Amino acid sequence: MEHMDIIAVIAHKGGTGKTTLALSLAVEAQLAGHNTLVVDLDPQTSALNWSARRNNDCPAIIESTASDLPNALAKAKQNDVDFVVIDTPAGAHPATSAAAKAASWAIIPCRPQVYDFESIPLTLQNLGLAKALVVMNNVPLRRSRYHDAIKVINNFNVLICPYTVGYRLSFSDAAFCGQTVHEFQPRGKARREIGTVYKHLVMLMKSIDSRRKYLSMLHDAQR
Ligand SMILES: Nc1ncnc2c1ncn2[C@@H]1O[C@H](COP(=O)(O)OP(=O)(O)O)[C@@H](O)[C@H]1O
Ligand SMILES: [Mg+2]
Repeated sequence: MEHMDIIAVIAHKGGTGKTTLALSLAVEAQLAGHNTLVVDLDPQTSALNWSARRNNDCPAIIESTASDLPNALAKAKQNDVDFVVIDTPAGAHPATSAAAKAASWAIIPCRPQVYDFESIPLTLQNLGLAKALVVMNNVPLRRSRYHDAIKVINNFNVLICPYTVGYRLSFSDAAFCGQTVHEFQPRGKARREIGTVYKHLVMLMKSIDSRRKYLSMLHDAQR
């Protein structure tokens, strides 16, 4: 049976782009050749609703709960799924800790806005020992806000993805049609940005497989 990578998209603050990044990274993984599954743990079921508007069975999407998650993942593995993206609700929901426990990496989307970045320590508290990567999302053209946010996040002892996702309306327009930016604007900047973030994540997953290596990389990044 093949190895199955599991990533969870988690943020204590709502509206930071969890569902958007979860679906975009899942489609990117699917296009990279993975048999991909999205697990929607959010009672709001935004990912599930997206799939109902979608004219395509890939990636597969299922709804689950914190207690059912281990079963759902075991079944996915039996069905040769090799890449799982878990979308989670905001707040300290039981789904968040279940997702963090199951995943090898947690992606934390964060907009360069104070209510988002000041909530990162709370998000990290809910992650337990999961390895985490902050991905800056909704970054406006004026980069000063991004740089101000990074200065604060640098104090939080978490890795920050060096690649960002810009503020682009194509994300919400694509979601309305049950698509991601891959299908909505195949040659657009949003798609390229998602591709770059995905490649960075895959590089991290390959090079930092253990918690010990993660902590040492974190230590190097903060020097
Ligand atoms: N990079 C982006 N640029 C523009 N709009 C975005 C971006 N990322 C997310 N959005 C929009 O922001 C809103 C909240 O995103 P969503 O993924 O639902 O967040 P969450 O799941 O964290 O609540 C949605 O309307 C979504 O289309
Ligand atoms: Mg959501």
